[in-house]
Amino acid sequence: MSVDHPEHYPVDGAGLGLRRSMVDESISPDAVDFLEVAPENWIGVGGRFGRWLREYTERFPFVIHGLSLSIGSPAPLDLELVRSVKGFIREHDIRCYSEHLSYCSDHGHLYDLLPIPFTEEAVHHVAGRIRQVQDLLEQRIAMENVSYYAAPGRELDELTFLNAVLEEADCDLLLDVNNIYVNSINHRYDPLEFLRGLPAERIRYAHVAGHFDEAEDLKVDTHGAPVIDPVWELLEQAYRIHGPVPTLLERDFNIPPLPELLVEVARIRSIQAEAGEAVHVGCR
Ligand SMILES: [Fe+2]
Repeated sequence: MSVDHPEHYPVDGAGLGLRRSMVDESISPDAVDFLEVAPENWIGVGGRFGRWLREYTERFPFVIHGLSLSIGSPAPLDLELVRSVKGFIREHDIRCYSEHLSYCSDHGHLYDLLPIPFTEEAVHHVAGRIRQVQDLLEQRIAMENVSYYAAPGRELDELTFLNAVLEEADCDLLLDVNNIYVNSINHRYDPLEFLRGLPAERIRYAHVAGHFDEAEDLKVDTHGAPVIDPVWELLEQAYRIHGPVPTLLERDFNIPPLPELLVEVARIRSIQAEAGEAVHVGCR
């Protein structure tokens, strides 16, 4: 199958990760431009939560961010999962499916995401699996640059590995700005150089999130705190380099009342506006 290169972003503006704990809140399209869920948490869900999700997917542009595709695993691909995701995409008119460039040891929980060795062999392995998923889905997918704390068997640096996978798989990129910040401290590299080395034409949307300061030189990507100023500054730099990419706030733990999250979503919008391009046009 041949997959076309994206000419448009799948969504525009500033988004928010939709979580079940928000079931009693009311999210307005005036405050949030698009929403994201993990498909594994919603496939086959009916009843009150199923109806709640449907209400939102009918009112908002939606993207999905998978947890358990386990693209780097040596185990066979979970084709049943890919088929279910394909059904979910069709059912809810999902604009983009993204996944982590990692693999999961068990059931795909956030902390079980393990790094793929940065080797040539792993590039071929992962790229082949991404192509297989894209063929099955009959659409491109976006892979996210992940945070990692150990780099087993490393032959390539992170940027070379990431770019080689994107190129060989001919897939897109979900640019996680917090992960670049966290990795740049934990692995001592220049985050701006990393940003400049990414292929703008493959970026579909971006993530920002908060993390945990374990120590001065050890940051843990928890999605459990507000976004910190250096990450907002890095997002500004990312827009300067790549344009005001649609950007979503991820919050998975210690989720505060909605108004607090909306302050952060509004900050994404204002940084996009400052970046000097009409983000609501959505094409580039
Ligand atoms: Fe992310």
